[in-house]
Amino acid sequence: MDVVLTGDRPTGRLHIGHYVGSLRRRVEMQNSGKYKDIYVFMADAQALTDNADNPDKVRKNITEVALDYLACGIDPKKSTIFIQSQIPELCELSFYYMNLVTVSRLQRNPTVKSEIQMRGFKSSIPVGFFTYPISQTADITAFKANIVPVGEDQLPMLEQAREIVRSFNQIYAPVLVEPEAVLPDNKQCMRLPGLDGAAKMSKSLGNCIYLADSSNDIKKKVQSMFTDPLHLHVEDPGHLENNTVFTYLDAFCKDEHFAAFLPEYANLDELKAHYTRGGLGDGKVKKFLNEIMQAELKPIRERREELAKDLGYIYQILREGTEKAEAVAAQTLDEVKSAMKINYFKDNNL
Ligand code: TRP
Repeated sequence: MDVVLTGDRPTGRLHIGHYVGSLRRRVEMQNSGKYKDIYVFMADAQALTDNADNPDKVRKNITEVALDYLACGIDPKKSTIFIQSQIPELCELSFYYMNLVTVSRLQRNPTVKSEIQMRGFKSSIPVGFFTYPISQTADITAFKANIVPVGEDQLPMLEQAREIVRSFNQIYAPVLVEPEAVLPDNKQCMRLPGLDGAAKMSKSLGNCIYLADSSNDIKKKVQSMFTDPLHLHVEDPGHLENNTVFTYLDAFCKDEHFAAFLPEYANLDELKAHYTRGGLGDGKVKKFLNEIMQAELKPIRERREELAKDLGYIYQILREGTEKAEAVAAQTLDEVKSAMKINYFKDNNL
Protein backbone atom coordinates (compact mmCIF):
# COMPACT_ATOMS: atom_id res chain seq x y z
CA MET A 1 0.00 0.00 0.00
CA ASP A 2 1.08 3.52 -0.74
CA VAL A 3 2.89 5.84 1.61
CA VAL A 4 2.42 9.56 0.95
CA LEU A 5 4.75 12.32 2.11
CA THR A 6 4.74 16.08 1.58
CA GLY A 7 6.42 18.98 3.28
CA ASP A 8 6.44 22.76 3.36
CA ARG A 9 9.14 25.19 4.33
CA PRO A 10 7.82 27.14 7.30
CA THR A 11 8.81 30.59 6.05
CA GLY A 12 5.37 32.19 6.06
CA ARG A 13 1.71 31.60 6.68
CA LEU A 14 0.04 29.48 4.03
CA HIS A 15 -2.15 31.12 1.38
CA ILE A 16 -4.88 30.02 -0.97
CA GLY A 17 -2.24 29.13 -3.57
CA HIS A 18 -1.01 26.43 -1.18
CA TYR A 19 -4.59 25.45 -0.46
CA VAL A 20 -5.55 24.97 -4.09
CA GLY A 21 -2.20 23.55 -5.15
CA SER A 22 -1.68 21.04 -2.37
CA LEU A 23 -3.51 21.30 0.97
CA ARG A 24 -6.95 20.54 -0.44
CA ARG A 25 -5.53 17.48 -2.17
CA ARG A 26 -3.75 16.23 0.93
CA VAL A 27 -6.95 16.38 2.91
CA GLU A 28 -8.77 14.44 0.19
CA MET A 29 -6.05 11.81 0.12
CA GLN A 30 -6.08 11.59 3.90
CA ASN A 31 -9.84 11.14 4.03
CA SER A 32 -9.97 8.63 1.17
CA GLY A 33 -8.57 5.94 3.46
CA LYS A 34 -6.67 4.55 0.46
CA TYR A 35 -3.18 5.09 1.83
CA LYS A 36 -1.16 3.13 4.32
CA ASP A 37 0.41 6.23 5.87
CA ILE A 38 0.39 9.94 5.20
CA TYR A 39 3.20 12.18 6.44
CA VAL A 40 2.95 15.95 6.38
CA PHE A 41 5.89 17.85 7.72
CA MET A 42 7.48 21.21 8.23
CA ALA A 43 10.83 21.40 6.51
CA ASP A 44 12.33 23.82 9.02
CA ALA A 45 15.89 22.53 8.55
CA GLN A 46 15.48 23.11 4.84
CA ALA A 47 14.03 26.58 5.50
CA LEU A 48 17.19 27.38 7.45
CA THR A 49 19.37 26.57 4.43
CA ASP A 50 18.55 30.01 3.07
CA ASN A 51 17.40 31.67 6.29
CA ALA A 52 20.32 30.84 8.54
CA ASP A 53 20.36 34.43 9.80
CA ASN A 54 16.67 34.47 10.59
CA PRO A 55 15.83 31.72 13.08
CA ASP A 56 12.92 33.70 14.53
CA LYS A 57 11.13 33.65 11.22
CA VAL A 58 11.34 29.86 10.96
CA ARG A 59 10.41 29.36 14.59
CA LYS A 60 7.35 31.61 14.39
CA ASN A 61 6.10 29.94 11.25
CA ILE A 62 6.15 26.45 12.73
CA THR A 63 3.11 27.47 14.73
CA GLU A 64 1.51 29.35 11.83
CA VAL A 65 1.88 26.47 9.41
CA ALA A 66 0.69 23.93 11.98
CA LEU A 67 -2.44 26.03 12.51
CA ASP A 68 -2.95 26.29 8.74
CA TYR A 69 -2.62 22.51 8.34
CA LEU A 70 -5.07 21.69 11.08
CA ALA A 71 -7.52 24.41 10.06
CA CYS A 72 -7.63 22.99 6.52
CA GLY A 73 -8.55 19.57 7.78
CA ILE A 74 -5.27 17.72 8.13
CA ASP A 75 -6.18 15.40 10.95
CA PRO A 76 -3.45 14.20 13.30
CA LYS A 77 -5.36 10.95 13.81
CA LYS A 78 -5.09 10.15 10.13
CA SER A 79 -1.88 11.92 9.08
CA THR A 80 1.44 12.11 10.87
CA ILE A 81 2.48 15.74 11.23
CA PHE A 82 6.11 16.27 12.18
CA ILE A 83 8.98 18.75 12.38
CA GLN A 84 11.98 17.88 10.20
CA SER A 85 14.75 19.26 12.45
CA GLN A 86 13.62 17.11 15.37
CA ILE A 87 14.46 13.89 13.55
CA PRO A 88 18.27 13.54 13.63
CA GLU A 89 18.06 10.36 11.53
CA LEU A 90 17.34 12.62 8.55
CA CYS A 91 20.73 14.30 8.91
CA GLU A 92 22.44 10.96 9.15
CA LEU A 93 20.79 9.67 6.01
CA SER A 94 21.68 12.88 4.17
CA PHE A 95 25.30 12.47 5.14
CA TYR A 96 25.52 9.00 3.60
CA TYR A 97 23.56 9.98 0.49
CA MET A 98 26.05 12.79 -0.12
CA ASN A 99 28.52 10.18 -1.32
CA LEU A 100 26.15 9.16 -4.09
CA VAL A 101 25.75 12.59 -5.67
CA THR A 102 28.26 14.65 -7.61
CA VAL A 103 28.71 18.38 -7.33
CA SER A 104 28.05 18.76 -11.04
CA ARG A 105 24.79 16.85 -10.76
CA LEU A 106 23.61 19.29 -8.09
CA GLN A 107 24.75 22.21 -10.21
CA ARG A 108 22.61 20.91 -13.05
CA ASN A 109 19.47 20.56 -10.92
CA PRO A 110 17.10 23.10 -12.55
CA THR A 111 15.31 23.96 -9.30
CA VAL A 112 18.56 24.56 -7.45
CA LYS A 113 19.78 26.66 -10.39
CA SER A 114 16.71 28.88 -10.51
CA GLU A 115 16.52 29.25 -6.73
CA ILE A 116 20.18 30.32 -6.61
CA GLN A 117 19.32 32.97 -9.21
CA MET A 118 16.17 34.08 -7.39
CA ARG A 119 17.98 34.43 -4.09
CA GLY A 120 20.87 36.30 -5.69
CA PHE A 121 23.50 34.06 -4.08
CA LYS A 122 25.89 34.51 -7.04
CA SER A 123 29.13 32.88 -5.86
CA SER A 124 28.17 32.82 -2.15
CA ILE A 125 25.95 29.75 -2.14
CA PRO A 126 25.62 28.18 1.31
CA VAL A 127 26.69 24.53 1.12
CA GLY A 128 23.58 23.51 3.04
CA PHE A 129 21.39 25.20 0.48
CA PHE A 130 23.29 23.69 -2.42
CA THR A 131 22.83 20.20 -1.03
CA TYR A 132 19.20 20.47 0.01
CA PRO A 133 18.05 18.05 -2.73
CA ILE A 134 20.02 15.42 -0.83
CA SER A 135 18.37 16.25 2.47
CA GLN A 136 15.02 16.21 0.70
CA THR A 137 15.82 12.70 -0.50
CA ALA A 138 16.41 11.74 3.12
CA ASP A 139 13.00 13.21 4.06
CA ILE A 140 11.29 11.07 1.47
CA THR A 141 13.22 7.83 1.78
CA ALA A 142 13.28 7.72 5.59
CA PHE A 143 9.57 6.95 5.45
CA LYS A 144 9.76 4.79 2.30
CA ALA A 145 7.27 7.17 0.76
CA ASN A 146 6.42 6.18 -2.80
CA ILE A 147 4.00 9.03 -3.48
CA VAL A 148 5.09 12.64 -3.14
CA PRO A 149 2.46 15.20 -4.13
CA VAL A 150 4.31 18.36 -5.19
CA GLY A 151 4.16 21.34 -7.50
CA GLU A 152 5.86 21.29 -10.88
CA ASP A 153 8.90 23.16 -9.57
CA GLN A 154 9.75 20.16 -7.40
CA LEU A 155 9.99 17.62 -10.23
CA PRO A 156 13.79 17.95 -10.51
CA MET A 157 14.02 17.23 -6.76
CA LEU A 158 12.11 14.01 -7.19
CA GLU A 159 14.23 13.02 -10.18
CA GLN A 160 17.33 13.53 -8.11
CA ALA A 161 15.83 11.52 -5.24
CA ARG A 162 15.08 8.65 -7.61
CA GLU A 163 18.67 8.65 -8.83
CA ILE A 164 20.00 8.51 -5.28
CA VAL A 165 17.65 5.64 -4.43
CA ARG A 166 18.64 3.67 -7.53
CA SER A 167 22.28 4.19 -6.84
CA PHE A 168 21.96 3.23 -3.16
CA ASN A 169 19.94 0.12 -3.92
CA GLN A 170 22.36 -0.96 -6.62
CA ILE A 171 25.54 -0.46 -4.61
CA TYR A 172 24.37 -1.72 -1.21
CA ALA A 173 21.03 -3.53 -1.01
CA PRO A 174 17.46 -2.85 -2.12
CA VAL A 175 16.44 -0.99 1.03
CA LEU A 176 15.05 2.28 -0.35
CA VAL A 177 11.84 2.94 -2.24
CA GLU A 178 11.81 5.02 -5.43
CA PRO A 179 9.40 7.90 -4.95
CA GLU A 180 7.04 9.19 -7.57
CA ALA A 181 5.97 12.82 -7.88
CA VAL A 182 2.23 13.36 -8.13
CA LEU A 183 1.24 16.69 -9.64
CA PRO A 184 -2.06 18.43 -8.91
CA ASP A 185 -4.70 16.89 -11.15
CA ASN A 186 -6.34 20.02 -12.43
CA LYS A 187 -4.53 22.49 -14.66
CA GLN A 188 -5.72 25.62 -12.86
CA CYS A 189 -4.61 24.09 -9.62
CA MET A 190 -1.03 23.80 -10.74
CA ARG A 191 -0.28 27.32 -9.71
CA LEU A 192 -2.67 30.03 -8.65
CA PRO A 193 -1.48 33.43 -9.91
CA GLY A 194 -1.14 36.37 -7.54
CA LEU A 195 -3.91 38.95 -7.09
CA ASP A 196 -1.96 41.22 -9.45
CA GLY A 197 -1.85 38.58 -12.19
CA ALA A 198 1.83 37.77 -11.50
CA ALA A 199 2.69 34.16 -12.29
CA LYS A 200 2.91 33.13 -8.68
CA MET A 201 1.22 33.99 -5.43
CA SER A 202 4.08 34.78 -3.12
CA LYS A 203 4.60 36.52 0.14
CA SER A 204 7.47 38.64 -1.15
CA LEU A 205 5.28 40.00 -3.95
CA GLY A 206 2.51 40.87 -1.48
CA ASN A 207 -0.14 39.40 -3.77
CA CYS A 208 -1.62 36.64 -1.60
CA ILE A 209 -4.85 35.84 0.14
CA TYR A 210 -3.86 34.05 3.35
CA LEU A 211 -5.89 31.32 4.98
CA ALA A 212 -5.90 33.46 8.11
CA ASP A 213 -7.10 36.65 6.36
CA SER A 214 -10.12 38.43 7.85
CA SER A 215 -13.34 38.69 5.91
CA ASN A 216 -12.61 42.35 5.28
CA ASP A 217 -9.09 41.65 3.96
CA ILE A 218 -10.48 39.07 1.55
CA LYS A 219 -13.07 41.50 0.25
CA LYS A 220 -10.52 44.26 -0.28
CA LYS A 221 -8.10 41.90 -1.97
CA VAL A 222 -10.72 40.49 -4.34
CA GLN A 223 -11.78 44.02 -5.27
CA SER A 224 -8.19 44.91 -6.12
CA MET A 225 -7.67 41.92 -8.41
CA PHE A 226 -6.29 42.12 -11.90
CA THR A 227 -8.83 41.35 -14.65
CA ASP A 228 -8.88 42.10 -18.37
CA PRO A 229 -7.21 45.43 -19.17
CA LEU A 230 -9.18 45.64 -22.45
CA HIS A 231 -12.53 45.33 -20.69
CA LEU A 232 -13.10 49.02 -20.04
CA HIS A 233 -16.88 49.25 -20.34
CA VAL A 234 -19.48 46.75 -19.25
CA GLU A 235 -20.62 46.32 -22.88
CA ASP A 236 -17.11 45.46 -24.12
CA PRO A 237 -16.38 41.82 -24.81
CA GLY A 238 -14.13 40.48 -22.03
CA HIS A 239 -11.22 38.09 -22.23
CA LEU A 240 -10.67 35.11 -20.00
CA GLU A 241 -6.99 34.43 -20.68
CA ASN A 242 -4.78 35.74 -17.90
CA ASN A 243 -7.86 37.12 -16.22
CA THR A 244 -7.06 36.36 -12.61
CA VAL A 245 -10.65 36.59 -11.41
CA PHE A 246 -11.65 33.82 -13.79
CA THR A 247 -8.59 31.74 -12.93
CA TYR A 248 -9.68 31.85 -9.28
CA LEU A 249 -13.24 30.97 -10.27
CA ASP A 250 -11.87 27.97 -12.18
CA ALA A 251 -10.10 26.89 -9.03
CA PHE A 252 -12.87 27.47 -6.48
CA CYS A 253 -16.28 27.78 -8.12
CA LYS A 254 -18.81 24.96 -7.97
CA ASP A 255 -22.31 24.92 -9.50
CA GLU A 256 -23.81 25.24 -5.99
CA HIS A 257 -22.19 28.64 -5.67
CA PHE A 258 -24.34 29.89 -8.55
CA ALA A 259 -27.51 28.62 -6.89
CA ALA A 260 -26.48 30.35 -3.65
CA PHE A 261 -24.99 33.64 -4.88
CA LEU A 262 -25.72 34.21 -8.56
CA PRO A 263 -28.80 32.26 -9.64
CA GLU A 264 -29.09 34.04 -13.01
CA TYR A 265 -26.45 31.62 -14.28
CA ALA A 266 -26.43 27.85 -13.97
CA ASN A 267 -22.69 27.38 -14.09
CA LEU A 268 -19.30 28.89 -14.84
CA ASP A 269 -19.57 28.21 -18.58
CA GLU A 270 -22.64 30.46 -18.80
CA LEU A 271 -20.93 33.20 -16.83
CA LYS A 272 -17.85 32.99 -19.04
CA ALA A 273 -19.98 33.08 -22.19
CA HIS A 274 -21.68 36.27 -21.02
CA TYR A 275 -18.37 37.86 -20.09
CA THR A 276 -16.76 37.15 -23.46
CA ARG A 277 -19.91 38.26 -25.33
CA GLY A 278 -19.88 41.58 -23.47
CA GLY A 279 -22.40 43.12 -21.10
CA LEU A 280 -21.06 41.68 -17.85
CA GLY A 281 -19.07 44.01 -15.61
CA ASP A 282 -15.96 43.04 -13.61
CA GLY A 283 -17.60 44.36 -10.46
CA LYS A 284 -20.33 41.75 -10.60
CA VAL A 285 -17.88 38.92 -11.25
CA LYS A 286 -15.67 40.06 -8.38
CA LYS A 287 -18.66 40.29 -6.07
CA PHE A 288 -19.47 36.68 -6.92
CA LEU A 289 -15.85 35.58 -6.42
CA ASN A 290 -15.83 37.37 -3.07
CA GLU A 291 -18.94 35.45 -1.93
CA ILE A 292 -17.25 32.19 -2.87
CA MET A 293 -13.97 33.04 -1.17
CA GLN A 294 -15.81 34.13 1.96
CA ALA A 295 -17.79 30.88 2.02
CA GLU A 296 -14.69 28.72 1.45
CA LEU A 297 -12.39 30.50 3.87
CA LYS A 298 -14.74 31.26 6.74
CA PRO A 299 -14.76 27.74 8.22
CA ILE A 300 -10.98 27.50 7.84
CA ARG A 301 -10.42 30.87 9.52
CA GLU A 302 -12.82 30.06 12.36
CA ARG A 303 -11.18 26.70 13.03
CA ARG A 304 -7.80 28.41 12.94
CA GLU A 305 -8.87 31.01 15.50
CA GLU A 306 -10.26 28.30 17.75
CA LEU A 307 -7.05 26.22 17.54
CA ALA A 308 -4.84 29.25 18.13
CA LYS A 309 -6.33 29.59 21.62
CA ASP A 310 -4.50 26.48 22.78
CA LEU A 311 -0.96 26.34 21.41
CA GLY A 312 -0.07 23.74 24.03
CA TYR A 313 -2.37 21.34 22.22
CA ILE A 314 -0.76 22.21 18.86
CA TYR A 315 2.70 21.44 20.25
CA GLN A 316 1.43 18.19 21.71
CA ILE A 317 0.22 17.13 18.26
CA LEU A 318 3.58 18.07 16.76
CA ARG A 319 5.51 16.23 19.46
CA GLU A 320 3.47 13.05 19.11
CA GLY A 321 3.69 13.15 15.31
CA THR A 322 7.43 13.72 15.46
CA GLU A 323 7.97 10.82 17.87
CA LYS A 324 5.98 8.50 15.66
CA ALA A 325 7.87 9.64 12.56
CA GLU A 326 11.23 9.30 14.25
CA ALA A 327 10.58 5.65 15.06
CA VAL A 328 10.00 4.95 11.36
CA ALA A 329 13.06 6.93 10.28
CA ALA A 330 15.20 5.09 12.84
CA GLN A 331 14.11 1.75 11.42
CA THR A 332 15.07 2.84 7.89
CA LEU A 333 18.39 4.20 9.13
CA ASP A 334 19.14 0.81 10.71
CA GLU A 335 18.50 -0.92 7.40
CA VAL A 336 20.61 1.65 5.58
CA LYS A 337 23.52 1.21 7.96
CA SER A 338 23.37 -2.58 7.75
CA ALA A 339 23.34 -2.38 3.96
CA MET A 340 26.36 -0.09 4.15
CA LYS A 341 28.11 -2.42 6.58
CA ILE A 342 28.39 0.22 9.28
CA ASN A 343 26.27 -1.64 11.80
CA TYR A 344 29.25 -2.82 13.87
CA PHE A 345 27.56 -3.14 17.22
CA LYS A 346 24.41 -4.72 15.86
CA ASP A 347 26.26 -7.37 13.88
CA ASN A 348 26.79 -10.57 15.84
CA ASN A 349 28.92 -12.19 13.13
CA LEU A 350 32.12 -10.57 14.20
N1 TRP B 1 11.25 21.71 -1.11
C1 TRP B 1 9.86 21.64 -0.78
C2 TRP B 1 9.24 23.01 -1.07
O1 TRP B 1 9.94 24.00 -1.08
C3 TRP B 1 9.62 21.28 0.66
C4 TRP B 1 10.09 19.89 0.99
C5 TRP B 1 11.14 19.54 1.78
C6 TRP B 1 9.52 18.68 0.50
N2 TRP B 1 11.26 18.19 1.84
C7 TRP B 1 10.29 17.63 1.06
C8 TRP B 1 8.45 18.38 -0.33
C9 TRP B 1 10.01 16.31 0.79
C10 TRP B 1 8.18 17.05 -0.59
C11 TRP B 1 8.96 16.02 -0.04
O2 TRP B 1 8.05 23.07 -1.24
